[in-house]
Amino acid sequence: MSDGPVRVAILISGSGSNMVTLADDMTGAHPARPCLVLSNRPGAGGLDKARARGIPTAVVDHRDFGGDREAFEEALIAAIEPHAPDILCLAGFMRILTPRFIGHYAGRMLNIHPSLLPKYRGLNTHARALDAGDAEAGCTIHEVTAELDGGPILGQARVPVLPEDTPETLAARVLVQEHRLYPAVLRRFATGDRTPVNL
Ligand code: GAR
Repeated sequence: MSDGPVRVAILISGSGSNMVTLADDMTGAHPARPCLVLSNRPGAGGLDKARARGIPTAVVDHRDFGGDREAFEEALIAAIEPHAPDILCLAGFMRILTPRFIGHYAGRMLNIHPSLLPKYRGLNTHARALDAGDAEAGCTIHEVTAELDGGPILGQARVPVLPEDTPETLAARVLVQEHRLYPAVLRRFATGDRTPVNL
């Protein structure tokens, strides 16, 4: 790691509400500071929220690469490296990354996933939890490895599933916990502590 505060790059695709909770937590005695918010979507709402906080932003639009994942990821790395991050946080970044990119940031890339992994890797997690009749749902922070949504778990938060829940109401309840869990895990991870956080 570099001298001074731990540098954190946050990758988003959408509204960036998790990015905001991470960035807003990184003040005062927190061991880390945000060094970049990068989106693969030029219209991502999180970009304005990052700019409003004075965080450098970048856009690498995957559509410019016509399905060439390697070229897209080379451009991602080229946009990220000048900011010299120690840690990458995926926060609603909705592109699948190849082993080449993941290897570049091995051991220092985190992801938030809206299910209690190992349940419901991939998409539509809340609908799948409801279809299965689960009594509880939640979210997971994990280290990113080449296995999709499969790396070591660094934290989980649980919520009850209520009888009247829809995927939207369940997602909203889980999102409240995402906003508690990700900052708590990053605070630990930035000091080298990988002990799982359970909320
Ligand atoms: C979050 O709910 C996050 O868990 C999910 O995307 C949302 C992003 O919201 N991530 C995934 O589904 C990853 N496969 P945000 O942009 O407001 O943080």
